[in-house]
Amino acid sequence: MKKTFAILASLLISFSALADEGMWLPSLISQRIADMQAKGFKLGAEDIYSINQASLKDAVVLFGGGCTGELVSAEGLLFTNHHCGYSSIQKLSSVEHDYLRDGFWAMTRDQELPAEGLNVRFLERMEDVTSQVLDGYSLNMTESERSELVTRNSEAVKKAAVAEGKGLRASVEALYYGNQYFLFVYRQYDDVRLVGAPPSSIGKFGGDTDNWMWPRHTGDFSIFRIYAGKDNMPASYSEENVPYTPKKYFKVSLGGVKEGDFTFIYGFPGSTREYIMSEGVRYISEISDPAKIDLRTKRLDILKRYMDSSQKIRIQYSSKYASISNAWKKWQGEAKGIDKMNTVAEKQAFEKRFIQWAKGGRYEGLVERIGGLYERLVPYDFAREYYNETVRAVELINFASNWPDGNVDAFYKDYHMAADKECFVALMNAFKDNVPEQFQPEYFKNGLASYGSVEAWADEIYGKSVFADEKAVASLSKDASLDSDPAREFAKEFAKWYSETIVPVITVINSELDLAYRDYMRGQMEFQKDKTFYPDANLTLRVAYGHIAGYSPSDGVYYHPSSTVKGIMEKDNPDIFDYNIPQRLRDIYAEGGHEDQPVCFIATNHTSGGNSGSPVINENGDLIGLNFDRVWEGTMSDIVFDPEFCRNICLDVRYLVFVVREIGGAGHILDEVEFTN
Ligand code: ARG
Ligand code: GLU
Repeated sequence: MKKTFAILASLLISFSALADEGMWLPSLISQRIADMQAKGFKLGAEDIYSINQASLKDAVVLFGGGCTGELVSAEGLLFTNHHCGYSSIQKLSSVEHDYLRDGFWAMTRDQELPAEGLNVRFLERMEDVTSQVLDGYSLNMTESERSELVTRNSEAVKKAAVAEGKGLRASVEALYYGNQYFLFVYRQYDDVRLVGAPPSSIGKFGGDTDNWMWPRHTGDFSIFRIYAGKDNMPASYSEENVPYTPKKYFKVSLGGVKEGDFTFIYGFPGSTREYIMSEGVRYISEISDPAKIDLRTKRLDILKRYMDSSQKIRIQYSSKYASISNAWKKWQGEAKGIDKMNTVAEKQAFEKRFIQWAKGGRYEGLVERIGGLYERLVPYDFAREYYNETVRAVELINFASNWPDGNVDAFYKDYHMAADKECFVALMNAFKDNVPEQFQPEYFKNGLASYGSVEAWADEIYGKSVFADEKAVASLSKDASLDSDPAREFAKEFAKWYSETIVPVITVINSELDLAYRDYMRGQMEFQKDKTFYPDANLTLRVAYGHIAGYSPSDGVYYHPSSTVKGIMEKDNPDIFDYNIPQRLRDIYAEGGHEDQPVCFIATNHTSGGNSGSPVINENGDLIGLNFDRVWEGTMSDIVFDPEFCRNICLDVRYLVFVVREIGGAGHILDEVEFTN
């Protein structure tokens, strides 16, 4: 009896596990809609994606080429994350108007600030074009002949698709390792203006300390508006442009969320690898992640020491530090999560069964072949990653290598040479110690022999390179010959080694891997007939659904799924940059009545980088939040999803409303939004 119950319970768990994992193609959502409805969703498949009528997809945009945004009014008003709008807000800022520090609120439409270079894309339609893309393919083609054919056919498909109208952009993307191809047709709008942003002390509250972590209290939102020509079609910036009228926009729910509520995320996840072989996972979790974490720890330690020593350096390096630490932290969670889930061993066991099943058929020997390819790839890929995280991570070397590209003033404004030199020494010593000798450039080995040490070499570069002298660089002629400049030479020689000895091998192996994975993907689908597959993320529009849920990060601890302003006050500390909140928030809180003001929540939706800013939608299709992060214990979900630990972190839209009205004093911005309860 007990045993039956245990089996039943484990069946139930694995069923619900399957249910919350997945990033589904909107045009195929009819295959999932019954499950979504069984879990509480009240709308139908055509409400999510339709080419015949306005649907929710028309209210979602690819924002700035790497994030997601959503339309929330009939006049083109758009919400996304603060960290997605960050670089636009920064570019619009100056010493007199520091919108990052102080926030920005347009009091009238005239005050909305054009964000140059920013665009948004609406998905017009998506379509399976596999047969067109593979037209002319025959089995005896080599992989490179096949990929030439795919490129040629895709170009023709894209060309036909964009001929239809203004601002159209098309891409053809491979799904399931090229077993399927989809056409995506977007309409791109280039006149996008900043409407509102909270001060960073709200929009980035918790900074890198809280990044990738729960409990979270970040007001990670910014507000923009899309402008169009008088015909509502894309137009480059002009005073004549008018607010864009969307086919569809979200109503904003003030009804609140509670544990168990249905949630649905609509957005553009960037990249996942759920179907790779155990060897691929082992490389990531046991070799690549630890090596990169170690290199970044070295840099972060050095930078932190300098930043703690001077306010000026802290400002110069805060954004660089943030971007170094973002992936650094994610990799730690990822490697740990993969280890905890025993994914390598699980995959190995699966592969054993697969090999058994494949005997005598077309998939015989495939897994072994992929294993062999990894064996060849790994040392080269390790050298590639090491190069990227060392040589290319040194600011001076990078700048010297790109010159005359790159903005001289901008570079030196945020450059502190002593810190960079220390990074050079630490990183290149690691290169010397950890990259196997036969994979190191001869140039490097010879240089080390003649200088005697990385330190001595650093003295030469940082003492003699023209790039170590801002004034000298400013007066350099663009065609000056710099072949003997030690920084330039270092960059060039490494680049040469990289492109001549590392890249060609990786390219060849990767193309064999592509081919093998195409088979392996199909093989997995044939082998696991009852499993529901979803294509790996590739920055195309996806639906992920789940529910609001807390989790237990470790024994004896349970994390509730929502956070409140009370938690902000608990963290508030004027002496700690990441936790120093605006005085106005302290004052409002002191008045009382705001203890329970919601701030963030977590849910079980399967998301990835690129889902930042994605609308979080309730059972009625109304907006309840903005996705902006994942919990640290669940960042392995790009490789393997664990329903127990994988949670996405969302801004509760009611905090957005609170901040706009109470902190920004800009409630008028939300007058055009339709609220529901
Ligand atoms: N971890 C989130 C995302 O990749 C947020 C990153 C921005 N925030 C920060 N504190 N660095 O990518
Ligand atoms: N912060 C991520 C982004 O910028 C989203 C979080 C994630 O990777 O899930 O897209």
